Amino acid sequence: MQEIESNKHAWSQLSADHYQTFKRSLQQGTHQLNRYIRQELGDLSGKHVIHLQCNTGADTLTLAGMCAEATGVDLVPDNIKYARQLSQDLQISNARFIEADIMQLAELHHETYDVVFVSEGAIGWLPDLKCWGWTIGQLLKDDGFVYVFDSHPFFLAFDEQKLPAGQLEIKYPYFGREPDVDDSIGGYASEPKHGVKAYFWMYTVADVINALLEAGLALDYFHEFEESYFDAGGMQPVAGQLHNYDYNQGLFPMSFSVRAHPALPAHG
Ligand SMILES: C[S@@+](CC[C@H](N)C(=O)[O-])C[C@H]1O[C@@H](n2cnc3c(N)ncnc32)[C@H](O)[C@@H]1O
Repeated sequence: MQEIESNKHAWSQLSADHYQTFKRSLQQGTHQLNRYIRQELGDLSGKHVIHLQCNTGADTLTLAGMCAEATGVDLVPDNIKYARQLSQDLQISNARFIEADIMQLAELHHETYDVVFVSEGAIGWLPDLKCWGWTIGQLLKDDGFVYVFDSHPFFLAFDEQKLPAGQLEIKYPYFGREPDVDDSIGGYASEPKHGVKAYFWMYTVADVINALLEAGLALDYFHEFEESYFDAGGMQPVAGQLHNYDYNQGLFPMSFSVRAHPALPAHG
């Protein structure tokens, strides 16, 4: 798919810079999952975790410290190369990395896991959320669960240039089906890179929930949070690797989490 190829190229512009950034933060011990993820994930001891869209593997390596084995998956060959390099740099032996498009992962990879982990800037890069949900269902053991933490679709609809001034103006249609195309990428772990074509899809809250339900999963919860996991411009850092606008005290959500597990087959 042309949009995925274009995104692959765009994300590859950031791989080397992300490697340097995450190597520093991992070695200094300052790289952490955000506070909501830490609270909600629970005890992963003994579990096999697969981390979808792992970038250069920083969070995968953090998960590896909490579980029996962590497997990171990403589209970009250089992200996988640097993720493997990071695990060597940090001498982490229970992490492995797979280069794959999530849209094709279920056809290529037939192992199952206790936990599927998806976080922080993942789902909007995928053209088909039903395929994403189905893939998660295929990756889960019967007694496993999926945990997702990402930007709230309501927040993503606003004009990010106007939000710092408290102006809530819809720029990206909440029900939009065409991807937004940006000529730059990144900025959260390095300087942004320009001259790319990065395709990002809007999904509604219902799209996320229904993708999981239609894949045969049952929801444990859907949570909404005021804070963002990244600074979209003009936000202040707040506790636990999160950010917020000074004025957003209970006004609107910027992140959500959802946990789901395979529904038991009906008996009788
Ligand atoms: C914002 S980053 C996610 C970072 C993530 N929060 C982490 O833990 O490091 C988005 C990632 O999605 C990956 N990606 C985009 N489209 C993909 C696809 N179709 N299949 C697999 N990975 C994809 C990109 O290469 C990029 O590394």
